[in-house]
Amino acid sequence: MAGVRFENITCRYGNHVVLKNFSLEVKESEIMGIVGPSGCGKTTLMRALCGFMKPETGNIYLDNRLVYSASKRVNIAPELRGIGVVFQDYAVWPHLSVWDNVCYPLKRHKVPKAEMEKRAAHALEQVHMTGYEKHLPSQLSGGQQQRVAIARALVSSDELIVLDEPITNLDAKLREEMLAEIQRIQKDIGTTIIYITHDQAAALRLCDNIAVMAPDGHICQIGVDEDIIRRPADRFVFTFVGVSNFIPVICRSGKVFTENGEYPVDTALSDMQEGGRYDLGVRPMDIVFDEKSELKVTIKSVTFLGDQYDYFVDFNGQELRIECNALDALSHRVYEEGEKIGVKFLNVRYYPREEGTAS
Ligand SMILES: Nc1ncnc2c1ncn2[C@@H]1O[C@H](COP(=O)(O)OP(=O)(O)OP(=O)(O)O)[C@@H](O)[C@H]1O
Ligand SMILES: [Mg+2]
Repeated sequence: MAGVRFENITCRYGNHVVLKNFSLEVKESEIMGIVGPSGCGKTTLMRALCGFMKPETGNIYLDNRLVYSASKRVNIAPELRGIGVVFQDYAVWPHLSVWDNVCYPLKRHKVPKAEMEKRAAHALEQVHMTGYEKHLPSQLSGGQQQRVAIARALVSSDELIVLDEPITNLDAKLREEMLAEIQRIQKDIGTTIIYITHDQAAALRLCDNIAVMAPDGHICQIGVDEDIIRRPADRFVFTFVGVSNFIPVICRSGKVFTENGEYPVDTALSDMQEGGRYDLGVRPMDIVFDEKSELKVTIKSVTFLGDQYDYFVDFNGQELRIECNALDALSHRVYEEGEKIGVKFLNVRYYPREEGTAS
């Protein structure tokens, strides 16, 4: 199975540098998620990997095979890199039937007919598209086309599969099934998978490791899901992955206060400066009700979401969001609009104040 290594690659469109000295290693047989805001360079990175774009600098290795090097003038053709790919904007050949689409990479690799038919049929079965073999893409829904594209990627390579937003057009149930299928394939065959998405929940659910890209294309953090959620490397990661509250605070006499708060919200950390202004970041699930606490919030609204209650509350003139697990909520009490209750903040993070960014 193929591990992947990007070494100092730089990609640009005209004057627009999208990736600058970008390095990343994906280990053999892992599922690496790449998440980042729209336009940060995720698809560009995959174009470079698959051989559809030539980086200005750097090297790309598949296992230990150099497939691209700007300085050594190595550029292995896309079809010889052995990567199965589902591109976000380009799903399937419009003029080929479902069957021919899936058989296409196998024909190119001159796989014997009997084996080709077996593998294509199996791949269509995996994506629940058996029975659609004769359809043209124009006769399929967007989600069905995506599933054909996934089937084609599955037969293309046992080594490395790259999926760029592969399930955006699917309904929740099918998305769940495709994720389970991708995970199963990875487990059975040990294929290395790079999974690109905006959908952090899907990335958290599927991936062994996740790389978070910043808007300027650099990687802010690589880690397992728990690292990213619980120990975000910086403010961008904290904000990008999951919902967050930011509360402007100030450090006084070794304690942390909100600007107009009478009671401290926390004890200052050793590296915080006296008089320093910070933003306290806290996730909605880490604000817990505690009737004994001096820190009071007033409930503005409450919504029941099946497995949780979502509260919007006022805290010293600022709106915060609190999520409360439904079982926990019912074992205490569900609070009502207008009630004033104590809260505690758990797992807080502090970031130097950025004016205009606290909300
Ligand atoms: N062919 C192109 N010519 C010029 N600029 C391009 C081209 N393709 C992409 N770009 C620009 O490069 C940047 C990165 O694009 P890219 O498609 O890699 O982003 P992305 O992270 O995949 O975004 P999304 O999440 O929306 O798919 C964007 O600013 C985009 O406008
Ligand atoms: Mg993209």
